[in-house]
Amino acid sequence: MCGIFGIVTSGEKDLGPVLIEAGWRLSYRGYDSVGCATLHADGTVDLRKDVGRIEDVARRLAFHEMRGTRGIVQLRWATFGAPSQANAQPHLDSDGDLVGAHNGNVVNNVELREAFIAQGMVVRSTNDGETCVHAVERYVDQGYSMLDAIRRAYRDLEGDYAFVIGRVGEERLYALKKGSGLVAGIADGEACVSSDLPSILPLTRRIVRVEDGEIVILEPGRIELRRAADGARIDRDPEVIAETVEEAQKGGFPHFMLKEIHEQPQRAGEMLHLYEASPHVAPLVERMRSARNLYLVGCGTSYHACLLGAVYIARLSGRPAIPVLGPQFVPQNLPAVGPGDVGVFVSQSGETKDVLLALEAARSRGLEPLALVNVIGSTLMRESRAYLPLACGYEVSVPATKTFMNQALAFLYLALRMGGHSTAALRQIPELIERTISATEGQIETLEGDLAGRDDLYCLGYGLTYPIALEGALKMKEVTYAHCEGMLSTEFKHGPLSAVTEGYPVIFVSGPEDVARIVSGVNEVTCRGGRAIAIGEEEPRLRANAHDLIVLPQAGPLLNPLLAVVPLQLLAYRMSVARGLDPDHPRNLSKTLTVD
Ligand code: M6R
Repeated sequence: MCGIFGIVTSGEKDLGPVLIEAGWRLSYRGYDSVGCATLHADGTVDLRKDVGRIEDVARRLAFHEMRGTRGIVQLRWATFGAPSQANAQPHLDSDGDLVGAHNGNVVNNVELREAFIAQGMVVRSTNDGETCVHAVERYVDQGYSMLDAIRRAYRDLEGDYAFVIGRVGEERLYALKKGSGLVAGIADGEACVSSDLPSILPLTRRIVRVEDGEIVILEPGRIELRRAADGARIDRDPEVIAETVEEAQKGGFPHFMLKEIHEQPQRAGEMLHLYEASPHVAPLVERMRSARNLYLVGCGTSYHACLLGAVYIARLSGRPAIPVLGPQFVPQNLPAVGPGDVGVFVSQSGETKDVLLALEAARSRGLEPLALVNVIGSTLMRESRAYLPLACGYEVSVPATKTFMNQALAFLYLALRMGGHSTAALRQIPELIERTISATEGQIETLEGDLAGRDDLYCLGYGLTYPIALEGALKMKEVTYAHCEGMLSTEFKHGPLSAVTEGYPVIFVSGPEDVARIVSGVNEVTCRGGRAIAIGEEEPRLRANAHDLIVLPQAGPLLNPLLAVVPLQLLAYRMSVARGLDPDHPRNLSKTLTVD
């Protein structure tokens, strides 16, 4: 997830301050690198960009001095390709006549780039935003108008993205949406386009929401919408927005945690799309498959993804994988580590010291470090031999939600590939998560009323849902401050069952294969007066034995854990809010733990 913003004004203006302000509002979407371009009435382009956050880069490169009739700013959240000056956006075409920037992922980037180089175009980076510019250049060079060139580029560029582009000598900017967010705004003598609302609202409240497959033509004081497929004009009246900038930043949700839970279908789809087209996946799968020992290392939520990953890998590829908590790696596993071993180090931030220390120690004994990481350019990405991005964009809320989903999904994807299985069934995942959110939100609301006052509960799972129970319990503890213990359901009778009294809440997460075992656990609780809450697919035995059944869509044993975590995230969120807490900023916690 990156952020783009473009503006067109009537006559040459000081655009620098406007672009800085818009970039600052977009900075939550990406902060690896930032760049501004302005186009002047005399046909020249001023392009300034570099690695770093907007505060630093804007000052160093004096963005505030930039003038022009049109301007573009881009904030990059790298997915592939290290953050670098060359990869920073916007990009120029071969002759410097076009300038543009994108947000999202062009999955056939490598093939297109090679084709453009072969055609003699000047390609300066490995970034897919540059590929969008050359994709338009190719047709402009053949004599097509900008609109028709963009329409043709739309057919060539695969993936989920949006881009904004301008051409010297024209008084317009153009933007295209295909899978990534895009909103346009109209003001007196100005028009702008952006990845999201907050960067537009300081300029205007008259906005037009752009749909996938649409091109926006921006001129001073007006916009025009065209269908990319056939060029037909689209009539859509602007709406007037009443939201505050802060409300808009949260996408209409009261907290980032809820927004990020709702983002999961989109982020999961984008990551799968990326993996399907990535040349980096096959070599990584091969290294994992042929490892002497395969370790999966992480902390907190990322460790829970490792636990689930180990189950997926063993079931689908027939080879063992050893999940380890970062700080436990040295005392427990290091003595056995040697050449030929592979470790997959998993981290949202890529800066967790407990994980980095394990990597360093393991590498010194010959282990090959690989990574699943969300923050590209992080220490973990740089220290690993190869990595795959989680492609979630910036996760603002301290509780990890969308990054857990993509970690778990990444492991399922890799496990299927390691076992030589098709990954086609995963394509239904975004829709299934979407359905899970809408099907369980109401059920959770009812339950939250009963549970919000409880300071003590358990969350149990078995097999594939055991890591989900641990993850649900962690989410609950983190944002409600209640004690919630996650555990293997069959272990409950070995001690904790003694805690159960009248009404004591125990959540059971049931996979479709494990209903009989879960029902035994449920009965051990209910016959002692406890309240058993089951999460699983509609099932007569769960329905008959548990007090409550949160019903998940039918998805089968492998996909079920990815759906089961959703109501637990929602329950933790709602309980937190019901207790008057701020789920985005739990007390005592930090998003990135760079200490021992
Ligand atoms: O950035 P990481 O994934 O390495 O962070 C690891 C844990 O600190 C993190 O998952 C933590 O447990 C979450 N805030 C839980 O929601």
